[in-house]
Amino acid sequence: MLSGGKGLRLRPFTYTGAKQLVPIANKPVLFYVLEHLAQAGITDIGIVVGDTHEQIRAAVGDGRRFGATVTYIQQEQPLGLAHAVKVSRDFLGAEPFVMFLGDNLIRDGIVPYVQEFRGGGMNSLIVLKEVPNPQDFGIAELAQGRVVRLVEKPSEPCTNLAVIGIYLFDHHVFEAVERIAPSLRGELEITDAIQYLIDHGYRVEARHLSGYWTDTGKMDDMLEANRWVLELLEPRISGHVDEASTLQGNVVVEEGAEVRHSVVRGPAIIGPHTRIENSYIGPYTAIDHDCVIVNTEIEHSIVLDQCRIDTGGQRIEASLIGRNVEISPAEMKPRAYKLVLGDHSKVRLL
Ligand code: G1P
Repeated sequence: MLSGGKGLRLRPFTYTGAKQLVPIANKPVLFYVLEHLAQAGITDIGIVVGDTHEQIRAAVGDGRRFGATVTYIQQEQPLGLAHAVKVSRDFLGAEPFVMFLGDNLIRDGIVPYVQEFRGGGMNSLIVLKEVPNPQDFGIAELAQGRVVRLVEKPSEPCTNLAVIGIYLFDHHVFEAVERIAPSLRGELEITDAIQYLIDHGYRVEARHLSGYWTDTGKMDDMLEANRWVLELLEPRISGHVDEASTLQGNVVVEEGAEVRHSVVRGPAIIGPHTRIENSYIGPYTAIDHDCVIVNTEIEHSIVLDQCRIDTGGQRIEASLIGRNVEISPAEMKPRAYKLVLGDHSKVRLL
């Protein structure tokens, strides 16, 4: 499982945090990946880590919580997915394995792919999904159901079938990752390694993913993933909701959370020990733990932990708000926006 990379497209979020730990419906993307692996009976998991290894270790620990044993594999530099396979060779030995990118979120899990691959006969199995923006992904060309060509982020894609971040391999992939050369972006590309397998007569098959999938590498994609994951949540009230409040639709109120004099319209999740007061929390909103939201309208947004938000009744939407952020009304003249924003922040003013 891979959790390196710099997360450039998620700045400023990823200045302070690993992109795989940004929460979707209050749970880090990486945790969904670990759950899918464990559910498929894969409990011996290596996590390839880079610069953000301390955070990943702190969040995942030894994996026991997921019913797995986790080994951390350090990748000194982000030299590509095929390079990550290379550095994992000792851990993997001769066993077939699944490589799952830690920022890829899927709904339905990987059980059928793992079962089919275990059945034997294939050297690699990849998973494809149609996308509207094929130039942003590895793209596959098929002929009579077999994969014949893979191209990494082509400027003129000839199909719209993206290779999603779930790959199954047997040990022949080690031969491939040794033989390929770095791409123009200086990385050992996994698409090139798979192309090597195809060109050398190994059997590479593809399956089509029908359920939801999001590569959470960009802001808009995070919001999209948050939407579909929240829709799947079972409503649950473990915290306190007062009589002056209304909850509509699928809403989760976690333990220790309080909702007072507010409307929460689901799908939405209010994290543990968060207080919502005199506010409107609209659909597709995830508020993480230990926040205080007062006199605020917010919808279609992700708010990380320990934020204090009081907009004086104004509405926030389609926003990603990092940890420990404070938003408060300007009480003294001049009435103006007063901002402390990190590098690469994005603000749209009224
Ligand atoms: C990587 C792969 C690409 C694949 C994508 C899936 O791209 O190189 O082939 O389609 O993951 O998320 P990256 O996100 O590292 O640019």
